[in-house]
Amino acid sequence: MKTKSAPKSTSKPARKSANGKAAHRANGMSATATAKRKSAPSHASIAYDAVPPMGEKPTIYVNGKMVPKNQAMVSVYDHGLLYGDGIFEGIRVYGGKIFKCGQHMERLWRSAEALRLRIPVSREEMVQIMRECIDANGIVEGYIRLVVTRGYGTLGLDPRKCPVPGIICIADQIQLYPKELYETGMKVIIAKRPRTPIECLDPRVKSLNYLNNILAKVEAIDAGCLEAVMLNAEGYVCECTGDNIFMVQNGAVFTPPTEAGILEGVTRRFVMDLCAELGIPCNLKNIKPEELKAADEVFLTGSAAEIISVAQIDDIKIGGRTEGPVTRRLREAFRKVVTSHHVPED
Ligand SMILES: Cc1ncc(COP(=O)(O)O)c(C=O)c1O
Repeated sequence: MKTKSAPKSTSKPARKSANGKAAHRANGMSATATAKRKSAPSHASIAYDAVPPMGEKPTIYVNGKMVPKNQAMVSVYDHGLLYGDGIFEGIRVYGGKIFKCGQHMERLWRSAEALRLRIPVSREEMVQIMRECIDANGIVEGYIRLVVTRGYGTLGLDPRKCPVPGIICIADQIQLYPKELYETGMKVIIAKRPRTPIECLDPRVKSLNYLNNILAKVEAIDAGCLEAVMLNAEGYVCECTGDNIFMVQNGAVFTPPTEAGILEGVTRRFVMDLCAELGIPCNLKNIKPEELKAADEVFLTGSAAEIISVAQIDDIKIGGRTEGPVTRRLREAFRKVVTSHHVPED
């Protein structure tokens, strides 16, 4: 992959770039350390994009306090940072309502149980925290990132040394993919890297450890696109790095079952409900990549992505069009609900 120097910014020098010298210094890294890192082999580097400067907005909930973004910090001894030991949810806000709040809370608590992580507040209190963040930032249409970390501990894996789990809640905006891709459909690849097997770390657990997905995403970036379809060890389609996947064949919709090794997406379930309402047959099915490539339509679902069609997989064009009729019907039905006065919070 090509390495390009980070773009120049007009903000203060200490915030010059995400990977530049000044940014390292701002984080307390010495010039010598920076120079040493610079001379390290760069075979695994990626080309960095500019990120918005670290300002005060939004106001973020961190371990019991509402603080400006540039003061929202956790301990470097937090096992969420040290080991990816923690869980999270990505949740949409539509019309000021927390979309499918009940299902997100259900999944968060199930993830916690799988990691034997004790969430230190009740579900009602957690919802209250989210509402506080929405209100503090005047969010009407937006996105919530809710994180529960194992918390502050010692320099070992032992979770018993982390007595108080941490909670972070960010209410902000998100644009996962460029707007144009919703018109044209996305190009995706089939990742070479398989999805972590259920026996190792069940993908139903929405944990802070996303390296399996990130490395597949890097494969996609290397191939010039933004998503990768991940297969399980048996070679069947699971999901994408941050979205669930559906295909349409002869008017019927298919998506891989939980046993394929997927996150049980809230949007996936909503789309399945929409299919039932619209009388579109929807079935769970183990799908081979060749079947996916031969489908009439393919689309992805996720809280951040919503519903987006796939126009190409590897070098194969899907269905010969940008967005197929079934995908469009479902996307329009989805938009109708989320722009209505009855955004479901169940
Ligand atoms: C791996 C993975 N699969 C699927 C999804 C979609 O899930 P949801 O619709 O609940 O956002 C996500 C969302 O973050 C994800 O990370």
